[in-house]
Amino acid sequence: MDNLDQIVSEAQVAFAAISDPDALEQAKARFLGKSGQITELLKGLGKLPPEEKKTAGAAINVAKTAVENALNARREAIRKAALEARLAEEALDVTLPGRAEARGGLHPVTRTLERIESLFASIGFEVADGPEIEEDFHNFTALNTPEDHPARSMHDTFYLQNPDGTLAEKVLLRTHTSPIQARYMQAHVAKYGQLEKMPEIRIIAPGRVYRVDSDATHSPMFHQVEGLWVGENVSFADLKGVIADFLKSFFETDDLTVRFRPSFFPFTEPSAEIDVAFMSGALKGRWLEIAGCGMVHPNVLKIAGIDPEKYTGFAFGFGPDRLTMLRYGVNDLRLFFEGDLRFLRQFA
Ligand code: DAH
Repeated sequence: MDNLDQIVSEAQVAFAAISDPDALEQAKARFLGKSGQITELLKGLGKLPPEEKKTAGAAINVAKTAVENALNARREAIRKAALEARLAEEALDVTLPGRAEARGGLHPVTRTLERIESLFASIGFEVADGPEIEEDFHNFTALNTPEDHPARSMHDTFYLQNPDGTLAEKVLLRTHTSPIQARYMQAHVAKYGQLEKMPEIRIIAPGRVYRVDSDATHSPMFHQVEGLWVGENVSFADLKGVIADFLKSFFETDDLTVRFRPSFFPFTEPSAEIDVAFMSGALKGRWLEIAGCGMVHPNVLKIAGIDPEKYTGFAFGFGPDRLTMLRYGVNDLRLFFEGDLRFLRQFA
């Protein structure tokens, strides 16, 4: 029976040294497998005389149970160790700060456009829209811009190509938001032209425009906001009042002066550039050009089907990119369109 104790302690030592489940099952075979040591002893029982069989059998079974217990204890220990290792590996530190959701923000120029829209909405202007791929007619002809006007040249305007590479005649990326004036007036006349008294037109039209131009103060894509007010007795005095009030509200200061400097646009007569000068701050005393404007040219009204003897109007075109630069103190226009988040986040 010494032999049995030895087998049991041998098994205990062997199992204790193993931490891999497969290796453990192999070690088990050495003792309890088909030709394992315990199994061999049990097989040998048959050869014993009957009176010894019983005690020897009982002793071997005790040893077998001891080996099985050692095996099960080891299996359990290995399983527990594996579980603990896995828990440690997958541990979550619930006290860590959460991952913040990436929040979008409005582009600074979008902020300006929305601000302009809401300021003009407060004096009864509706927002109007038009296509960025525009016809030559609305971009130029309907705005009293003659065939030979330099603005129509390939150097200034992006014309479109047909799929076969030939020039698509009379289709271009709009060079300004003024064609929205022409489109809106036409649609307005189609709707109310029969009436004795046509309702007033009061619109603001923000949008992207395109020109063959690129440097620190020019981008091939930039923004404009068109304004148009047509009705009976609309005068240049109204234009001056509307613009001066708008600029004071936009920049949130009364400490600025507005100047109307005579200029020329084919679609207005008389025409002017609007300059603004701040009376304080970093830009104090410098005249800054921010818009073009004028009284809508009689030809433009006529082309749209409006009687210039009965109705008058004023129009203006702002550069909201410029307004945004002034409002936030940005010195290079291109920063707005490069998509650098370090820059854009400052406005979000
Ligand atoms: N469309 C002109 C431009 O892009 C700007 C402009 C000037 C618009 C006078 C107007 C206006 O409506 O009356 O240069």
